Amino acid sequence: MERIKVKDKKYKVASLFAGIGGLDLGFEFAGFDVVWANDFDKYAVETYRANVNDNIVLGDIREVMDEIPSHDILIGGFPCQPFSTFGKLKGFKDKERGTLFFVIKEILQKNQTKVVVLENVKNIVNHDGGRTFKRILRELDEIGYNCFYQILNSQDYGVPQRRNRMFLVGVRKNSFNTESFAFPDKQELTVTTQDILDKDVDEKYFISKKLEATILGYGTKGYMVKPTIDQPISKTLCATMHKMHRASQDNYVTDKVNFKKIKNDNKVAVRKLTPNECRKLQGFPDEWTQVVSDTQAYKQFGNAVTVNVAYAVAKNLMQYMDANIKEIAYCAE
Ligand SMILES: C[S@@+](CC[C@H](N)C(=O)[O-])C[C@H]1O[C@@H](n2cnc3c(N)ncnc32)[C@H](O)[C@@H]1O
Repeated sequence: MERIKVKDKKYKVASLFAGIGGLDLGFEFAGFDVVWANDFDKYAVETYRANVNDNIVLGDIREVMDEIPSHDILIGGFPCQPFSTFGKLKGFKDKERGTLFFVIKEILQKNQTKVVVLENVKNIVNHDGGRTFKRILRELDEIGYNCFYQILNSQDYGVPQRRNRMFLVGVRKNSFNTESFAFPDKQELTVTTQDILDKDVDEKYFISKKLEATILGYGTKGYMVKPTIDQPISKTLCATMHKMHRASQDNYVTDKVNFKKIKNDNKVAVRKLTPNECRKLQGFPDEWTQVVSDTQAYKQFGNAVTVNVAYAVAKNLMQYMDANIKEIAYCAE
């Protein structure tokens, strides 16, 4: 993935719920100009500032939405807990987070934004018997957007991680000559998890003999699970992976090479992934600096949009916009 020099960037992007900028980097790498971003998590903002740029504003979107500058595209992986199968499935009834979709709607209406790109968990499409998603599509249609959506799996875009996410692209009906947007084709996967493992791994990532049975076990009678380790395609990284300790849900690998260096007799040759390996499985660039604790880093990578998928969608969007846009708000010299 290559960064395009700023002078070539013609479309301005505003990013909501930016986290550490998975969507943002994908859009930047495809040649878009992310001029404004927001998140209310101070650790995510620290990581974003250290690795993406300084355009991110720390604060609750409901309090800073009036500061959003003029832009062509609004992107946002809006909080998914109300729609995820792991959450309590409250949907729009979740007063705190479910209603953030309506904040997005308000911003689109106010700015007459040409394109909106939303990302969420796959299950948002089925939530409440499909009613939640139908409502999102209807609300966007009513304010002038033609919407296209598809479930994209990160393993189809160059990283060995199974991660199904819903991507929605809404194009303003009166801004484009044609209204059909095509999602990117799948690519053949040429790497496995084993290919991206770190060469030098600290002892702290290895599991102890004491916890081995729990971590690699089949659970309890009432809750039987199948532990799997050494998966060539990793399981979905999730925001809670720092506190989960089960090989049925999390990714564990056998690492005999690094184990040889360990002096501690209480460890076994199986370990969890390092934050740096999570970075690679999410497509973040090699020149990444971890400025937060491991706990925060796991949370951040688990929450992020895979950069490769964002890039593939953004590249198609760039072609679509170049070919079909009627006028642009901004053109950088
Ligand atoms: C799924 S993550 C976003 C991932 C990110 N878009 C990416 O591309 O990698 C959702 C983010 O929304 C942020 N968030 C949730 N509610 C918010 C609010 N009311 N205002 C601002 N940010 C919020 C969280 O801190 C979290 O970082």
